Amino acid sequence: MSGLKERIAAELEAGRARSLAYTDVDDEVLVRQHSPIMSPLVWDLAHVGNYEELWVLREAGGLTPLRPEIDEMYDAFAHPRGERPALPLLHPDEARAYIAGVRGRVLDVLDAADLSRPDPLCSQGLVFGLVMQHEHQHDETMLATLQLCGLPGLVRDGDLPAGRPAGAAEVLVPAGPFIAGTGTLPWAYDNERPAHRVDLPAYWIDRFPVTCGAYAAFLDDGGYEDPRWWSPGGWEWRVRREVRAPLFWTREAGAWWRTRFGRPEPVPAEEPVQHVSWFEADAYARWAGRRLPTEAEWEKACGWDPRAGRARAYPWGDAEPGPRHANLGHRASRPAPVGAFPSGASPCGAEQMIGEVWEWTSSCFLPYPGFRAFPYRQYSEVFFGDHYRVLRGGSWATHPSAVRTTFRNWDLPHRRQIFAGLRCARPAAPGEA
Ligand SMILES: [Fe+2]
Repeated sequence: MSGLKERIAAELEAGRARSLAYTDVDDEVLVRQHSPIMSPLVWDLAHVGNYEELWVLREAGGLTPLRPEIDEMYDAFAHPRGERPALPLLHPDEARAYIAGVRGRVLDVLDAADLSRPDPLCSQGLVFGLVMQHEHQHDETMLATLQLCGLPGLVRDGDLPAGRPAGAAEVLVPAGPFIAGTGTLPWAYDNERPAHRVDLPAYWIDRFPVTCGAYAAFLDDGGYEDPRWWSPGGWEWRVRREVRAPLFWTREAGAWWRTRFGRPEPVPAEEPVQHVSWFEADAYARWAGRRLPTEAEWEKACGWDPRAGRARAYPWGDAEPGPRHANLGHRASRPAPVGAFPSGASPCGAEQMIGEVWEWTSSCFLPYPGFRAFPYRQYSEVFFGDHYRVLRGGSWATHPSAVRTTFRNWDLPHRRQIFAGLRCARPAAPGEA
């Protein structure tokens, strides 16, 4: 097998190991719907196999469908999450057998594939990169479901490096053009393409994600009772849903506590805040006298190397993420404290842009100039518009192979089950730049 094929096989195996670990729980936990906004875990499990069957076995491999009768049930567009528990879903054991059967054939297709062929679906292993990233994305969704389910003991924790005193709170990004998006990263999605020039005035961006301690100061200052800090839609949402703090936070005897995978613990002050909606992130930034960065500002601060005149795949360079660079891939079931990854700093000096928490930006999810849907419209195109806000950078739960400087995620502004936080920005004053 070629080096690329070996890498693909290893990446597929890593994703599957996660899917099986997260679903190694009682059948009752797998089939129950833990929240109306999430699928039962057993749906995600069979869906990743069905997606792999559709794209690798049928589209790329030209094979006959294995279980055509289940396609509709696992089509994310045919049934919204709220409807999925009522479907005659495959039993957990049946789902495991189905996805294992698909995977065996996928490895045969990989073995026989000519990845140098100028076929857009197979060239450089794109279709395998597609299904591998898709499974890792569902693994992260499964973790969000397991957090919502609230049962302890289902998700492993681990060790993370210590933080360090913060130093400068913000870093300056000088005015000038940069190249956003990519035309070269082989496994980038259609919404990251094409590469294009964006010119930005100078701005400051937080060196670290906003911490729980800083966010608690917003709460303790009455930030959730003061409509001045909130967008009209955000205030309406906060009042109607009676939102008083980030999801999973409670106030006990004068201190903030949270429940993390079923276990209560004091909120750690130095850890990036997570489980805040776009509405909350936007309000915090306004209270702090700042604003959310646009996604272009975020991307330039993350990857633009002004001396080389090119964008890096990651803040530290083009090397694949390693343990000293970032907190990715569920090393522990939480973000690392700020200052934990000095080796992962970007050229402008921003840290922990990749990993820790998805970072809300002020931008709506829109196509780049020259966008072309590939390989199917439902991946990105149907979500473009002003309903969704862009998130960047991945979280502690994101696998290293499913994030990069150019990666764009999106969600509705009121969602907060995802592992999302923020960092703030502000324009540079004339004397500062
Ligand atoms: Fe999916």
